[in-house]
Amino acid sequence: MNPRIGLFDSGVGGFTVLKQLLQKHGDISCVYLADTARVPYGNKSPKQIRTIAHEVVHWLKEDNVSAVVVACNTTNSLALDVVQNISQVPVFGLIKAAAHMIDKDCVGVLATSATVKSNEYKKQIQALRPGTIVIEQSCPAFVPMIESGNLFVPELRELAIQYLKPLLDARVQAVVLGCSHYPLIHSLLLDLLPPDVRIIDPAVGLARQMDVLFGQSTHNLNSPNPFANTRFCATSDPEGFAQQATTWLGQCPEVELVTLRSKAYVS
Ligand code: DGL
Repeated sequence: MNPRIGLFDSGVGGFTVLKQLLQKHGDISCVYLADTARVPYGNKSPKQIRTIAHEVVHWLKEDNVSAVVVACNTTNSLALDVVQNISQVPVFGLIKAAAHMIDKDCVGVLATSATVKSNEYKKQIQALRPGTIVIEQSCPAFVPMIESGNLFVPELRELAIQYLKPLLDARVQAVVLGCSHYPLIHSLLLDLLPPDVRIIDPAVGLARQMDVLFGQSTHNLNSPNPFANTRFCATSDPEGFAQQATTWLGQCPEVELVTLRSKAYVS
């Protein structure tokens, strides 16, 4: 039986992971869950993030996924064990994938506040490369701005300059996009970083790690409908989410409204 992959994120950020997967492995069968009712995750407590992960993975399980991709660094940093315990299938995370991509001695990580507080990037990078200097910077305003589609306002550029300053002051040699939303502003970050600073998208490494399920051949996203085998679901406002998705996917997907198993709302 062909593997079916369950991916989830708080909103559109996980598209950057979905695209890397499809780019690498062709039009594999996927279900993408956007927890739009509770975006952003990055300002929530570890307890809230773990409760949400619990609900999301129970829901993915009902879709009979054969592997889970945690397309959200915040969940990855605080609730990977929850995902692993409940799903009972192989789980792929972005942080470990990113840690394996590091080949520099001084690295910056841009991430949500919750991810930065967890210190998970620093721990996993230094576990693989002891002595690596890791500077983590939280960027709380990025996700709300990206979700609202406000990408060409001067405020976003100003914020990016502010968030990058500690990394540039420390002369980092690479910057990890430690939130799956951030590759959506890759061109802005590229513009603000010196040309010799490597930008690392963990999803590239994650897609490579999934060779264990799909083999090593590389596909491309040029097929007329690369998302033909992807079911898109959202926990609120499916029409609004379909509109947002159009910007990033280049087509308007059908989005189903879904309710996660537990009705307990975590604000
Ligand atoms: N895109 C997610 C991440 O990688 C969640 C961002 C958020 O909702 O704050 O952390």
